[in-house]
Amino acid sequence: MAIVWRNEISVGNEEIDNQHKYLIDLINIIESAVNCDLFEDALSIYIDQLVSYTKVHFRQEIEIQKEISFPFIEHHQKAHQNLANQLEEIVSEFKKIGTSKTLKIDPSKSKTEGFKKPVDHLFLLLRDWIIHHILEEDMKMKDYFKEKDAK
Ligand SMILES: [Fe+2]
Repeated sequence: MAIVWRNEISVGNEEIDNQHKYLIDLINIIESAVNCDLFEDALSIYIDQLVSYTKVHFRQEIEIQKEISFPFIEHHQKAHQNLANQLEEIVSEFKKIGTSKTLKIDPSKSKTEGFKKPVDHLFLLLRDWIIHHILEEDMKMKDYFKEKDAK
């Protein structure tokens, strides 16, 4: 099931919101890729894009935090590191599934048996990863954007 960006998860900055939307789009695209024949090729292209764009996004987020004198930059950088590690683990699981012949669609097996289940679990982790990133950490910036706008 696709994740839908909503106003409630806006951090109050258009640039960061747009980057979050793109990350969410990538996760949704990866999910679509898994559900069609493009599976392995598309999966690795989009997963690589997710990993590299996450790095860009984290870097830019820190730059923006410096501009607004966000006081928890150090903590946020550590949180980014944890999130990057989590993403790396999820991605390596995805790649294992992507290259494992036994996990390809096999019409003789039910979807939950050979293919769907481990992938679904990874999507749960990915969704949780992005939502946690936005709600737990990035949302702390919201008050500082408000403060800046009020000046
Ligand atoms: Fe973010």
